[in-house]
Amino acid sequence: MVRKVTLIATAAMGLESVVANEVKQLGYEDIEVENGRVTIQADISAIPRLNLWLRTADRVKLQVGKFKAYSFDELFEQTKALPWEQFIPENGEFPVIGKSVKSKLYSVPDCQSIVKKAIVERLKQKHGVASWLKEDGAFYRTEVAIHKDTVLLSIDTSGSGLHKRGYRTGQGEAPLKETLAAALVQLTNWRPDRPFVDPFCGSGTIAIEAALIGQNIAPGFNREFASEEWEFIPGEMWEQAFNEAEELADYDQPLDITGSDIDHRMIEIAKANAMEAGLGELVQWKQRQVKDFRPKQENGYVVSNPPYGERIGEKEEVEQMYKDLGDIMADNPSWSVYILTSHPTFEKLYGQKASKKRKLFNGFIKTDYYQFFGKK
Ligand SMILES: C[S@@+](CC[C@H](N)C(=O)[O-])C[C@H]1O[C@@H](n2cnc3c(N)ncnc32)[C@H](O)[C@@H]1O
Repeated sequence: MVRKVTLIATAAMGLESVVANEVKQLGYEDIEVENGRVTIQADISAIPRLNLWLRTADRVKLQVGKFKAYSFDELFEQTKALPWEQFIPENGEFPVIGKSVKSKLYSVPDCQSIVKKAIVERLKQKHGVASWLKEDGAFYRTEVAIHKDTVLLSIDTSGSGLHKRGYRTGQGEAPLKETLAAALVQLTNWRPDRPFVDPFCGSGTIAIEAALIGQNIAPGFNREFASEEWEFIPGEMWEQAFNEAEELADYDQPLDITGSDIDHRMIEIAKANAMEAGLGELVQWKQRQVKDFRPKQENGYVVSNPPYGERIGEKEEVEQMYKDLGDIMADNPSWSVYILTSHPTFEKLYGQKASKKRKLFNGFIKTDYYQFFGKK
C-alpha cells in the first residue's frame, strides 16, 4: 500500500512563498519552493488535507516520477519503469496532457502518446490484463511536463482548479481568481477582529475570501475533488479531513467585513455568491461610489482590486477614483490600504508612496500590489 507521496502544489507566478506558508501552516515541513510550485514530501493523508485547505494554490498534483530524457526511447522506458499500478487501477481513466519547454523532446503530442503507451504497457503487465484497458473507472488526469530535458510525470488530484470553490454563481467583467483574492488577504496582517472593506468589490471575491479566512472555513468544503474517487486513498482519510475542517471552522468569530461597488447589479451577484459560500448575512454589501466611503472605525483594512483604467474612455474616471480614495484614506491614517492595480502612476494619484510593493500577475496582466501600512 502507498503511504509516502511527493505532492506538488502549483502556484501562480509570485505566489509561491504564500502557498509555501500555507503548506507549512498545515504541518508539512519537508518542502521545496521553486518557480510555479511547492513540492511536498508527505503521507497520503496530505492529498485530502491540501486540497481542502490550500487557499492560494492552483492545484495539487501527485508526482509519479522525475528523470532526464533526450530521446523517445528514454522517455518510454523510464515512464514504463515507474509504479503506475500503485495509483491507477485496472479500469482507471487516464488521459495524458503535456507541455515542453526548452527541451530536446519538443513535440508535445508525440510525448503524450509515448507516455500513454508506456503506462498502458505497465498497467496491463502489472494488473494482468491481456486485452484493452477499459478506462471506465475513476479519473486520473496524467501530465508529462518537460523542462530543460527534465521530465516530470504527475497525476492531478484536484479535478477542477482549486480556485473553483463552488460559490461563484455570477461574476462581473473582470473577476479576480479566488486564489489570488485569498493571497491578497493573506499578504496583509488583517486580523478577523478588525474592520475590512473592499470598496470596489465587484462579485465580492476578496470580501468572501476574507470571511472564509476570518472564520477559518476550509475553501474546498463546498466542492468535490478528482482524488475522492481514488482507490489507494482510503475513504476514511477524506472523511477525517472533512471532519477536521468542520471542527476547525469558527462560525462564532464575529466579523466586520463590507463589500461595496458603484454597480447595484454587482452587489446582487456578490450577495448571491456569499449565500452560496454559506456565509449568509455575514458580509455587509452596499451599493456605493468610492468617493462616498467614510470609514467609521479605527485600524481597519481596505483590500481592493479597482478598475485599472486600461479600457478606452475610462482612464480619467479611474484616475479620479484613485485620487478620491487617497484623499479619504489620508483622513483615516490608522487604516491600512492594499490596492492591486496595473496603473503606472497609482502612487502619485493616490498621493502617497507605498510602504511596500509586490509584483503579482492578475491573469496575464502585470500588476503591483501597493501596501500602505496604517499608523498605530
Ligand atoms: C476590477 S472590478 C473588481 C472585481 C472583483 N475583485 C471581483 O472579483 O469580482 C472593479 C469594480 O469597480 C467598480 N467600480 C467602478 N467605478 C467605481 C466607483 N467610482 N466606485 C465604486 N466602485 C466602482 C466596478 O463596478 C467593478 O465591479
